[in-house]
Amino acid sequence: TPKGACLESVKIAIDTGYRHIDGAFVYYNEHEVGQAIREKIAEGRINREDIFYCGKLWNTCHPPELVRPTLEKTLKILQLDYVDLYIIELPMAFKPGDAIYPKDENGKIIYHETDLCATWEAMEACKDAGLAKSIGVSNFNRRQLEMILNKPGLKYKPVSNQVECHPYFTQPKLLEFCRQHDIVIVGYSPLGTSRDETWVNVSSPPLLKDPVLNAIGKKYNKTAAQVALRFSIQRGVVVIPKSFNPQRIRENFQIFDFSLTEKEMKEIEALNKNVRYVELLM
Ligand code: A2P
Repeated sequence: TPKGACLESVKIAIDTGYRHIDGAFVYYNEHEVGQAIREKIAEGRINREDIFYCGKLWNTCHPPELVRPTLEKTLKILQLDYVDLYIIELPMAFKPGDAIYPKDENGKIIYHETDLCATWEAMEACKDAGLAKSIGVSNFNRRQLEMILNKPGLKYKPVSNQVECHPYFTQPKLLEFCRQHDIVIVGYSPLGTSRDETWVNVSSPPLLKDPVLNAIGKKYNKTAAQVALRFSIQRGVVVIPKSFNPQRIRENFQIFDFSLTEKEMKEIEALNKNVRYVELLM
């Protein structure tokens, strides 16, 4: 992100009322997120306990001995004592080292054999050490979740699973499975992504142009974005919309003063195309 954009956006978000901030080492802006949080605390606008910061363990850091040092590095960048939630960003490991996407001479990603259960035990130790208040996962399917849930000697269950979730990709089966196990689904790309062709499958149509979302929005004097976000929170999915635009940051927070009827919820659920924008082809 352009220098300072993240700092400004997080400060505006906090002023607007946002408290949950979703970050990651690989977004390369954690220093700005930390600075924004610390400035708002110094201003007396919030206390540290008011903020819910989620950090992520990258694929090159899955070996158990790397987990705690990696989180400590994130805390140092943030200049915070703990994260509220630390999650395994993806269920596959890459070769450890400085390269975020380690590649061989043919340009193929170099994977790394690790045991996800051992990584999870190292995550549990981070919670015990007070470095993370809660621990969870991201981009895990049911089988991968079951591997953790059925691990002998499991100390803490994942509290959440962050996955793509929005009206065009509603995840009905995973949502039901996670409900049964008290795992919160955090939906990323809740607005259908930025449609950046370098990582987004743009053959799926733009979510916010959807006629149903726009028609329902008209009825409530809301935008398609607000309807999409309201739909998710109303079915118990946490949303983490991304915007660097002050007006849209505020717009995305104005979703607590209306509710969708059961019929509208069903209509939006029927938009599901079972197609991901974020294919994670690696
Ligand atoms: P911008 O940062 O210029 O606001 P997602 O959260 O699904 O990843 O979507 C993020 C994309 O949606 C960004 O490109 C963001 O652009 C855009 N966006 C965020 N909020 C809105 C909104 N309320 N209406 C339209 N586009 C939005």
